[in-house]
Amino acid sequence: MQHGSLPPAQNSGHAEKPAAEKAPQSLYGGVTSRRVTVRDLASAKQRGERWPMLTAYDAPTAAVFDEAGIPVLLVGDSAGNCHLGYENTVPVTMDEMVMMSAAVVRGTKRALIVADLPFGSYQESPAQALHNAVRLMKEAGVGAVKLEGGERSAAATELLVQAGVPVMAHLGLTPQSVHAFGGYPVQGRGDEAAHQLLADAKTAQSAGAFAVVLEAVPAELAVQVTASLHIPTVGIGAGVGCDAQVLVWTDMAGMTGGRVPKFVKQYADLRATLGDAARAFSADVIGGSFPAAEHTFH
Ligand code: KIV
Repeated sequence: MQHGSLPPAQNSGHAEKPAAEKAPQSLYGGVTSRRVTVRDLASAKQRGERWPMLTAYDAPTAAVFDEAGIPVLLVGDSAGNCHLGYENTVPVTMDEMVMMSAAVVRGTKRALIVADLPFGSYQESPAQALHNAVRLMKEAGVGAVKLEGGERSAAATELLVQAGVPVMAHLGLTPQSVHAFGGYPVQGRGDEAAHQLLADAKTAQSAGAFAVVLEAVPAELAVQVTASLHIPTVGIGAGVGCDAQVLVWTDMAGMTGGRVPKFVKQYADLRATLGDAARAFSADVIGGSFPAAEHTFH
């Protein structure tokens, strides 16, 4: 696979700046003046370009990722356990998803914003899925929605796509089924499970999904699914053979307390950094060295 830009940075017509003054380098050329679209992602698959996706749940964090050139941000229902203090994704409501998604849209200029349809917001009927997807598009302004399941969500996906809602499917370890799974086990192991997952991926594609998340599946199976689809696969715990990779931002930046899954790479230790800042502020206040003269009005 080759690496490249998606979409290419727009040509401003100005003379080339020295390297140090250029926008931060990213896989996709930094911030451009238009949002990434699902068509850009389809072209990237054709060109063999990999792309990163991160979750975001609020405006300032989303702005940091947007400025860093992350082309797709997911307002995941992982907000349940990573942002809202629930035990898992199950309690997350549509109102919470709309509020967080609107904040992420407001905080960004360039990324495609995908919002999760939370548990109970689409399983009842395709009409219920459409009603809630429309809320995310009209009230929050997202560019696409994500829902869990292949064959079981095909009718909902079809109706959404017909109505003009881009749909990302989510297969493998689908966290909304945590109670049915009895935890978070790796999926798609064994011939029958692998066959079912491949069938689910093809069904999601036929129903019109523009991408498929593969969570916690064997790398070999993810390679097979990726080769079988013309839409991009987005891996999380699915090996390096997917077209794109997603991580939950609090995991990858070291904000999550306790254990993180084996598939997470921690790129920063923000929990420690923030704790140090809070302790330093506390010590300054207790010791009387904050506020100092430069922080004071007269
Ligand atoms: O909710 C979420 O963050 C997700 C990712 C793990 C793909 O669905």
